[in-house]
Amino acid sequence: MAETGNPEMTRRQFGRAALALGTAAALPGWLRAQQNAAPAASVSVSGPDSLRAHAAARGLLYGTAVNPALLDVDGVAAGNASDGYTLLIKEQAGIVVAEGAMKWAALRPGPSIFDFTMADKLMRFAGLAGQRVRGHNLCWHEALPSWFKSTVNESNARTHLTQHIQAVAGRYRGQIHSWDVVNEAINPGDGRPDGLRKTPWLELIGPDYIELAFRTAADADPHARLTYNDYGIELDTPEQTRKRELVLQLLRRFKDNRVPIHAVGVQSHIQADGPQPGAGLQRFIHEAARMGLEVYVTEMDVNTRSVAGGPEAQDAAVAQVYRDYLSIVLAEPNVPIALTWGITDAHSWLNEINEPWAKRQDGSLQRPLPFNDDLKPTPAFLALRAALDSAPPRRKRRSGRE
Ligand code: G3I
Repeated sequence: MAETGNPEMTRRQFGRAALALGTAAALPGWLRAQQNAAPAASVSVSGPDSLRAHAAARGLLYGTAVNPALLDVDGVAAGNASDGYTLLIKEQAGIVVAEGAMKWAALRPGPSIFDFTMADKLMRFAGLAGQRVRGHNLCWHEALPSWFKSTVNESNARTHLTQHIQAVAGRYRGQIHSWDVVNEAINPGDGRPDGLRKTPWLELIGPDYIELAFRTAADADPHARLTYNDYGIELDTPEQTRKRELVLQLLRRFKDNRVPIHAVGVQSHIQADGPQPGAGLQRFIHEAARMGLEVYVTEMDVNTRSVAGGPEAQDAAVAQVYRDYLSIVLAEPNVPIALTWGITDAHSWLNEINEPWAKRQDGSLQRPLPFNDDLKPTPAFLALRAALDSAPPRRKRRSGRE
């Protein structure tokens, strides 16, 4: 695509420089305007045209991960919020999840200290906006607080895990749609026959830490749907096929041991130009249904790291993935919700993480979500909304686990 704009510096050069600065804000108006000029930018997204309304019309929930620190909750309560991010989340999401605010690192400044400030802020926002809330997450090997390694050991790990779950899930008892009780516990690469990832929890408690977490969560909040959440189980590649099988083995063990579990989360972080999901994912969803489990799209976004071309080409590739992927999963009656991992490119983890697999060669920012970094709808918004419209209607859900 011909380079246009500022003669002193091509978009490619400036994008690389801006990325080196680690912020989208460094991009000047002429570059951001070019990067964000998408045909979708002029469509109506409000009220009946929102993702929230289109999902609800089919008995589905669409939602997004949220950073509560960015929300103007007092403004929403007073009816005079004007912050774009706050209004976008309020209008587009029927369900929200904290991107970080309900993780151990955020909640646990000390071994006997809880800080619920940001988690409570999200709960207040969701209450004002009439939204459901996903809890994420009660047990993970990442986002552990700095004191964890020096404090938690084989003799007290069970107590730390159960007391954390009792305090956190107990605090929001009856207010949570579903909890990601255990996150990413399967890793075939660690070589165990059961496929379990070698995490501090496994090493300190043993394989039954997962069952312990689920049983503790069920006691703490009998109303929340309890979810096992993982990534890299979407594609028909040999690795992901193997990982899906190991996740199904875990779920079957749960069902045989009558472990309280209600859903499996498929994170759905998809590469725009890689292999695309298909029959393997469909079979997985059908197998989950046979076990009486719902399947949630919990963290969808589309990585455009190696998509050739400019913004228009990237946006077209991203929209295609949303269209194709969601048409597969939302066709299944046991898939009632779909969340994106963020709603605007301005706050995507893919533009914040300093990893080669997230960095575009041309230095430009990733464009993984339904709204660009000017909070304008992208072709992905249209594709996501169309996929919601094409989904078979779901019967109205009662509250709780029914
Ligand atoms: O809050 C601190 C801040 O005080 C500090 O100055 C800054 C620099 O060190 O770090 C900030 O914490 C960061 C946190 O996000 C909040 O922004 C952590 O370093 C950073 O590692 C953390 O990354 C998050 C990551 O999970 C690990 O918790 C990403 O934003 C988040 O998108 C990502 O989400 C995960 C899901 O939870 C599970 N599935 C995969 C997904 C993507 O990795």
